[in-house]
Amino acid sequence: MLSARDNERVTRTGPGTPAGGVLRSHWQPVALVEELPDDRPAKPVRLLGEDLVLYRRADGGYGLVGRACSHRGVDLAFGRLEDGGIRCLYHGWLYDHEGTCLDQPAEPPTSRFRDKVRHTAYPVQAANGIVFAWLGGGDPPPFPDVDAFAAPEQHAFAFKGLWSCNWLQGLEGGIDPSHVSFLHRFLEDDERDTYGQQFREHVDGTDIPLSKLVGDHARPDIDVEVTDTGLRVYALRDLDGDRRHVRITNLLFPNAFVIPFGNHMAITQWHVPIDDHNHHWYMVLYDLVDETDREVLRAQRMDGVTMPDYRPVHGRHDDWGFDPAEQATATYTGMGMDINVHDQWAVESIGPIQDRTREHLGVSDRAVTACRRQLLQAIDDHEAGRTTSVRPAATTTRDEFGPVAVDVITPRHGWEQHWRDRVRTSRAESPWATVPGRATDGQDATPDGGRAAAPTAPTAPDPTDDRHLDDGATT
Ligand code: FES
Ligand SMILES: [Fe+2]
Repeated sequence: MLSARDNERVTRTGPGTPAGGVLRSHWQPVALVEELPDDRPAKPVRLLGEDLVLYRRADGGYGLVGRACSHRGVDLAFGRLEDGGIRCLYHGWLYDHEGTCLDQPAEPPTSRFRDKVRHTAYPVQAANGIVFAWLGGGDPPPFPDVDAFAAPEQHAFAFKGLWSCNWLQGLEGGIDPSHVSFLHRFLEDDERDTYGQQFREHVDGTDIPLSKLVGDHARPDIDVEVTDTGLRVYALRDLDGDRRHVRITNLLFPNAFVIPFGNHMAITQWHVPIDDHNHHWYMVLYDLVDETDREVLRAQRMDGVTMPDYRPVHGRHDDWGFDPAEQATATYTGMGMDINVHDQWAVESIGPIQDRTREHLGVSDRAVTACRRQLLQAIDDHEAGRTTSVRPAATTTRDEFGPVAVDVITPRHGWEQHWRDRVRTSRAESPWATVPGRATDGQDATPDGGRAAAPTAPTAPDPTDDRHLDDGATT
């Protein structure tokens, strides 16, 4: 549990708030590229409690400016995209993407009044189908060198959705490995095509769907390590014989996670506040080996949302589609086969902002506990003007590159080496994930294929390592 004060600190994200400061010190997704069509490449957006207008410039770049005109507050979302900026309809003031007021056509021709006006404007950059914004002030850092950005466009697919609850609830669901044994359990086989369908894919080297395997083994050992990009979360399930299921997911600090779909596909998913009661999730799904079938993936996802705001079809208004007959026979939830709906229900049903003074965390909540600890530490650091404890990705070591997301069956003994070998094998098959020069740890990439081929010492969770976290029930 958290104190009421800490719960406020981790959930409030508007300008000047503690968690808002930490989130603003990282690039944040603000829209899908597809939301700016050629016939009107501008739209209002709300991000971290700020009302803004996102638009695509004539030169192909983007602008993200305050929504209320600096003159008399009119809505710039209706502005004209012309003359190198966005022009207000009311009196024609023109702003560029850096917040400079270029024109005030109703003022005297000799007036320099426009030089006194500084309109809100933030740097913006697109990557793999998502437009990201930097709300942190000053010059933005480069994007972290992670797979979600390194994947070529043909190997990636981006989508988003709107969830009606605080951002941290969404994030905590994503890094919680124990809920998958329950929430996403199917009582009967689902014969649908499983391409891109998380938890329906077969576990590597078996004919068992992941949902069945984790459903049959509901008490994983969960271990958490601090990494340079956040947290690495191990869920270890011992199977019959000498076999162990090893599933590795990651927190990509502060508000994204990386989870595997088998060992060639993974998703990186951000949970970014619209305001404190609503947030968007944005994901980049990427395939290490094959090109993604974006048409299929998009059709699957479009089934679950309504346009134009990517609001889920199901939600509180219809009890998330709850069907007691289905719950009795087909799914654990009674809310259909789409695990996105299950996750949405779990985090929305809590309410707009969870009261974390009333919860009871166990050892199976270790990842959640560790995530909060990291966030509270970063808030303290940010407020004190210190560099956050999670080092920027420029110093990421080779082994945390990715970050690697793993889902394998290994021998019970030697599993620590086995999963690393599997990562090497997967990356060696990839046309892009092992490119020499991608290493970002300050060392030269190895000539035979960069990170994946680089020698890495086996580093099993080490109870003597003070970065190793094992006290999940204490926070
Ligand atoms: S309110 Fe925008 S130009 Fe006057
Ligand atoms: Fe889930």
